[in-house]
Amino acid sequence: MSKISAAITAVGKYVPDFVLTNKDLEKMVETNDEWITSRTGIKERRILKEEGKGTSFMAIKAAEDLLQKSGTDPKEIDLIIVGTATPDIQVAATAAYVASEIGASNAFAYDLEAACSSFLYGISTASSYIECGRYKKVLLIGADKMSSILDYTDRTTCIIFGDGAGAALFEPNEEGLGFQDEYLRSDGIGRNFLKIDAGGSQLPASEETVKNKQHFVYQDGKTVFKFAVSNMADAAAKIMERNNLEEKDVDWLVPHQANKRIIDATAKRMGVNPSKVMMNIQKYGNTTSATLPLLLADYEKELKKGDNLVFAAFGGGFTWGSIYLKWAYNS
Ligand code: UT7
Repeated sequence: MSKISAAITAVGKYVPDFVLTNKDLEKMVETNDEWITSRTGIKERRILKEEGKGTSFMAIKAAEDLLQKSGTDPKEIDLIIVGTATPDIQVAATAAYVASEIGASNAFAYDLEAACSSFLYGISTASSYIECGRYKKVLLIGADKMSSILDYTDRTTCIIFGDGAGAALFEPNEEGLGFQDEYLRSDGIGRNFLKIDAGGSQLPASEETVKNKQHFVYQDGKTVFKFAVSNMADAAAKIMERNNLEEKDVDWLVPHQANKRIIDATAKRMGVNPSKVMMNIQKYGNTTSATLPLLLADYEKELKKGDNLVFAAFGGGFTWGSIYLKWAYNS
């Protein structure tokens, strides 16, 4: 019997309708379209405006898009993992609610939190369950409502992030397609530079924490940028080296969409031509856990069976790494 590998067999996505442009942000904080575009590559981002709707709303929509497109029966799904830094509520897993709402009544479900690397780490987790033969259908979702943790008077963060969700289904493959290799890392020093100070067990919510705006995302952009550029590029280069991949062998770089300059630097280090770099930061901004699956959904039509994809991400924690995966279908 041939070895079982874990392949992505379907993808889906959802972004909210409301578009927040750089021009809109010019009216909210001291910034301008030229600065945002040249420093980040972002032109606009989507925001989930409807009151009372959280991350699960978008995760459910992305999952339903996948189920509908692929004709998958939700009852056949064994496990649902939601990568998110913005769960609907504390304690209860957002994934459990998503599973119930989409009719995945035979699945168990949990959340995975590794900031912007959640989906990347999730690929590792989902693939492992499939490769060992324990489960046949694992649904991995990356979803974040970043607008719920942003201070829209802080120009250093509110211009970067957006809301969205993407989903990918992992199933066994006997042709050697799907997951090939991973290089994943973390470094706890990073939590000083990208974090939300309050609301967790270390500093529970209080009048003081609300007054001090400690429930919003804080980022030391310059430091994070420095670590992101070198670590994302290093990880991707390592994956190429370990798998004897030359530039010509890489069909697609699938990079976390944090900053176009970080993406360009990673591609340059890999020697990969810009035409092979997936990019949608200009229209969605940084959607944290959702960037990688949103890219897959946006580029699905261009992907061919057997294509070599190199994923690379960097996020809070710090967490980062790279994954090599062979695409398994033509759409
Ligand atoms: O996804 C998780 C990982 N996150 C990342 O990878 C993000 C990494 N960091 C970045 O992408 C970049 O650091 C930022 C886009 C956040 C900032 O770009 P930068 O080139 O590092 O700018 P900076 O923070 O060094 O600021 C340069 C100048 C400063 O003014 P002075 O001190 O030079 O006078 C800032 O005050 O730009 C100013 N500035 C702005 N100006 C206009 C900061 N934010 C803005 C803004 N509009 N929105």
